Amino acid sequence: MITSVITIIGYIIMMLTISPTLTLIVLATMPLYVIATTLIAKKSQKYFAMQQKELGDLSGHVEEMYTGHKIVKAFGREKDAIEHFEAVNNRLREAGWRAQFISGIMFPLMNFISNLGYVGISIVGGIWITKSRLGIGDIIAFIQYSRSFTMPIVQTANIANVIQSTIACAERVFQILDEEEEIPDSKDAVVIDEPKGEVKFENVSFRYKEDVPLIEDLNLEVKPGHTIAIVGPTGAGKTTLVNLLMRFYEINSGKITIDGVDIRDIKRSELRKMFGMVLQDTWLFNGTIKDNIAYGKEGATMEEIINAAKAAHADHFIRTLPQGYDTVINEEATNISQGQKQLLTIARAILHDPKILILDEATSSVDTRTEVLIQRAMSNLMKGRTSFVIAHRLSTIRDAELIIVMNKGRIIEMGNHKELLAKGGFYADLYNSQFANENQEDAV
Ligand SMILES: Nc1ncnc2c1ncn2[C@@H]1O[C@H](COP(=O)(O)OP(=O)(O)OP(=O)(O)O)[C@@H](O)[C@H]1O
Ligand SMILES: [Mg+2]
Repeated sequence: MITSVITIIGYIIMMLTISPTLTLIVLATMPLYVIATTLIAKKSQKYFAMQQKELGDLSGHVEEMYTGHKIVKAFGREKDAIEHFEAVNNRLREAGWRAQFISGIMFPLMNFISNLGYVGISIVGGIWITKSRLGIGDIIAFIQYSRSFTMPIVQTANIANVIQSTIACAERVFQILDEEEEIPDSKDAVVIDEPKGEVKFENVSFRYKEDVPLIEDLNLEVKPGHTIAIVGPTGAGKTTLVNLLMRFYEINSGKITIDGVDIRDIKRSELRKMFGMVLQDTWLFNGTIKDNIAYGKEGATMEEIINAAKAAHADHFIRTLPQGYDTVINEEATNISQGQKQLLTIARAILHDPKILILDEATSSVDTRTEVLIQRAMSNLMKGRTSFVIAHRLSTIRDAELIIVMNKGRIIEMGNHKELLAKGGFYADLYNSQFANENQEDAV
């Protein structure tokens, strides 16, 4: 840009020294350049934005079809997938060639305008030579200047074009940057050095969408070191409760405290450090089993890793693998079973050695016997620590100090296993239905 502007000024000065009138002719073409550039840029930007959007859609579709490959095959949706791809791809091509075409017109158009100036100079200059108002050398020099004069203009126009397409791309990035920031940690945020693990929910209300109430006025008190089981039908808000505790979402009203401190007054990173979490969907990365378990603790020794694996009852299956702890888990973690994945994530959490442990359906894919063994190992490990266990299989949570039954975002029953059974309510129904099923299975 700077070079172009300086060159243009230089050429104008040189042309002025030869003939101010001819220079005016050249300058008269200037507005044409500006009009052409703005018109083209306006049009091409629209198509560049479209091209970018379609490219995003296409990549998204390919990614989705690739990861869901098995499901696509199983439901015989190959044809639809291909058709969808072709539809998006066609739109991308359409937007792509329009964007390219319009920005491609730029150069010839600039040339055309330049030639208009050339013709004007030739006519006027020719007449002047015959009248001896200008020497032939002056005209040749002037034509050279005026021809070169267009170069920096075309360059500037090109830069404008590139900027246009960059803006189109940047807009998509800005969409992300414009997302609402999370509330920053308060300056005087506290750090709880020796957390005891006392958790309290006081009149907590929360909704994901403003018009869909979920958790309303929830109260809950968890004593340090206790195991709290949360049960309830799918969609009851169990995971939501955990999300609130970890402050992945902000509550709308009420407060949640840990050891009497409002979690909004604790630094997010410190708060999350207190928790160990095993989620409903397992997450393992492309690396060795050893590294995956060690993710829970920086600089963990091999011995610690093995101990954690033993506690999670993963040690046995890991040893049966040909490469043992050095087995590399592939990118989609398809070379070990779903239950084994869960065992590894549990070992990871155990190694992390948190003050408060959250298990959200952490053993749902593990056989019931192993599940009970893990629960036992856990209860040893978690002595004196608070743990939240979400489980659909009620047999595993019988020993919990407190069982919370949730439904539609509300706590409908609370108590230990015996109390809840004696009450004969929702929990008793749920428990008996599972028990009856187990009996039937035994009979079969
Ligand atoms: N990110 C979200 N945005 C909007 N609504 C959500 C979101 N996450 C969950 N919900 C809704 O909140 C309700 C509670 O969901 P939650 O995940 O807490 O259920 P859950 O009790 O953990 O169920 P499950 O036993 O299936 O894991 C559901 O009705 C769900 O549709
Ligand atoms: Mg859940």
